[in-house]
Amino acid sequence: MSALATPLAKAAGIEVPLLCGAMYPCSNPELVAAVSESGGLGIVQPISLVYVHGRELAEGLAYIRSLTSKPIGFNVIVEKSARAYEERMKRWFDVALGAGVRFAVTALGNPRWVVERMHAAGGVVYHDVTERKWAEKALAEGVDGLICVNRRAGGHAGRLSAEELVESLGDLGVPLVCAGGVGDGSGFAAALGMGYAGVQMGTRFIATPECRAHDDYKRAILGARAEDVVLTERLSGVPCAVIRTPYIDRVGTHAGPLARRLLRGRRTKHWMRTLYALRSLRELKKASLEGPTYKDVWQAGKSVDAIDAILPAGEVVRRCAEAARAGA
Ligand SMILES: Cc1cc2nc3c(=O)[nH]c(=O)nc-3n(C[C@H](O)[C@H](O)[C@H](O)COP(=O)(O)O)c2cc1C
Repeated sequence: MSALATPLAKAAGIEVPLLCGAMYPCSNPELVAAVSESGGLGIVQPISLVYVHGRELAEGLAYIRSLTSKPIGFNVIVEKSARAYEERMKRWFDVALGAGVRFAVTALGNPRWVVERMHAAGGVVYHDVTERKWAEKALAEGVDGLICVNRRAGGHAGRLSAEELVESLGDLGVPLVCAGGVGDGSGFAAALGMGYAGVQMGTRFIATPECRAHDDYKRAILGARAEDVVLTERLSGVPCAVIRTPYIDRVGTHAGPLARRLLRGRRTKHWMRTLYALRSLRELKKASLEGPTYKDVWQAGKSVDAIDAILPAGEVVRRCAEAARAGA
């Protein structure tokens, strides 16, 4: 059996078990399509598609469909605290199902409504987890696989290593996907060798011509080493991996004392996170598309270590497939 014929590849209907993870604000339609077209799975980040890349959801999905007829995935950040947000996400999800999406990646809250709708349509849901407690909860809600977000990941990083996660979740009986720190073919092959059914990469796909991120952002990824990636609470209230810049050094990586108290409070934490999120969504969009400002905020994982050239997304997928086939 080919090293690539994993349970993830089968469930998603793809040739190479490699997901281009959802990225606010970097998931532009051309990037999603390029990864799918080359045999991986591009994941649509709907908030990014609509608010950063200016496409109404159905039209954006149709545009991606005009670029590739291969499977694509859809990201749902499950957030109950804002009712309008949840309702809009449900509407969007139904549009995605109508457009033929059969693979969802859920993150944060309870994925049950996504599971119910996706299973009724015959597809699968994989949930982002950082530790066993969340994995068990998500499995109780019926998810089909787990995206194991490790401590080297871009975005909201976990606390455990890729090895610790596969060790701790390996007996749960569902496919595990490694997310974090993988930036090249040998990292991809190593993750499959550890027992993962696939890899979700984010940062590697920002440094591609298809990604619309600003060239300075891409150059920052090429120039950064793992130790330049630090965790900051100042974007969303929970630790988020960014490249150290003079701006990050100036504002620091911790929430202030009042914000911290509000972030911990049972009643206040949701609106505090929303406040942070709204502010940081604006800043991230600006930094990603327009390049250096007085506030450079460039999200990236420790996978920057293995990324030293801008490569077409299809070439990234091809190199990963080749390394896995060669057992590198
Ligand atoms: C810029 C950026 C934005 C991200 N945004 C999201 C997001 O909106 N939703 C999500 O589920 N994960 C998000 N992630 C996590 C990625 O989907 C993926 O799990 C992660 O990038 C893997 O680590 P890597 O960057 O080292 O490859 C983001 C990651 C990055 C780098």
